[in-house]
Amino acid sequence: MHIAILAFLAPSLIRLANAQNQKRGIAYLGDTHKPDNNLLLRDGSPLSWYYNWSPYPATQQIPATELEFTPLIHGLDEAQDPHTKTAINDLPTSSQRLLTFNEPDGTTDSGGSSISPEDAAKAYIEHIAPYRSGNSRNWNISHPSVTGSPRGLEWLREFNTSCYEIDEKNGCPTDFIAAHWYGAFDGLKGWLSSLDDFYNGNRSDSKPNLKIWVTEMALPQQGTDATVAMANETLPYLDGLDYVERYAWFGAFRANDANEWTGGSVALFGDDGELTKIGALYLNGKEGEKGQGEDSGARGLRPSCEVMVAIVVGAIMLVDWV
Ligand SMILES: *[C@@H]1O[C@H](CO)[C@@H](O)[C@H](O)[C@H]1NC(C)=O
Ligand SMILES: *[C@@H]1O[C@H](CO)[C@@H](O)[C@H](O)[C@H]1NC(C)=O
Ligand SMILES: *[C@@H]1O[C@H](CO)[C@@H](O)[C@H](O)[C@H]1NC(C)=O
Ligand SMILES: *[C@@H]1O[C@H](CO)[C@@H](O)[C@H](O)[C@H]1NC(C)=O
Repeated sequence: MHIAILAFLAPSLIRLANAQNQKRGIAYLGDTHKPDNNLLLRDGSPLSWYYNWSPYPATQQIPATELEFTPLIHGLDEAQDPHTKTAINDLPTSSQRLLTFNEPDGTTDSGGSSISPEDAAKAYIEHIAPYRSGNSRNWNISHPSVTGSPRGLEWLREFNTSCYEIDEKNGCPTDFIAAHWYGAFDGLKGWLSSLDDFYNGNRSDSKPNLKIWVTEMALPQQGTDATVAMANETLPYLDGLDYVERYAWFGAFRANDANEWTGGSVALFGDDGELTKIGALYLNGKEGEKGQGEDSGARGLRPSCEVMVAIVVGAIMLVDWV
């Protein structure tokens, strides 16, 4: 009897036990092609989590039983909106971590949330920090995720100063750090080590080091070979790096849905939903493999405009950085 029940559950148990990589997830832009989403979720997929730049999970495409959802509070409006709080409190208890302000050092027309460090500190203390002792659960929250650039680091420094001006004792408490990177492998290494140094360089022994989540990353504007080589170097590095807790490639969409700035080489799926080279690498599949299920074909990507342009900021920052 028990054995029969176990056998029935076996496929998903096997995925949980063998294939899942606790670090690897996906930044989900809203690809509604069913076969593509089935590739993300099939047995053997290494993915364990996803987020979509909002507090509202894409439950129809990605059931909560398949991947853990991480909510994100994008900007000041979302922080103040009472619906945000309701949505976050209603999430299944598998969600424990909360991401905050997306690229506050970037402008809104390029996908950032364009918040001054002072305003961000105020809103963080008033609306976000309370989630750490929330009424549905104690969320672990990240500091805002800035662009991967010197400007981003400067923003974080000013944010920290403002936080301590408002709350001398606690500042803006955080449980982990979220990072974005668009560029080559060496640059990614340098950026992560700058953030680690910034947050953990002076920490006393009594406080554990903060871990980093890389919530957006890709090599933009390059061909397939360079992009695959970058990812092939990056993934084992991040898997082995102690202070990196999670990462998400940008992104899970078809090449012809990619935005102009990243170019199609970053896409996990080809124009017809087949796994690209990078898709095969990221999802432990075979190049050309297609997902199961009927493709209604009606809708592909439903891009949120804020997200599609977010990377432009990355581009500008990249130039600054070099
Ligand atoms: C939450 O953060 C604390 C450190 O601030 C850590 O010890 C704990 O494991 C984290 N929990 C989750 C679910 O990440
Ligand atoms: C770490 O300490 C040094 C020396 O006291 C100081 O200059 C620096 O600003 C500190 N860094 C952080 C992130 O607090
Ligand atoms: C934030 O500011 C406080 C108070 O000035 C300082 O002790 C701390 O080192 C700063 N942290 C970072 C990461 O800069
Ligand atoms: C990835 O790296 C490994 C080991 O360095 C190498 O053997 C393999 O050919 C590379 N794969 C790709 C697709 O670049």
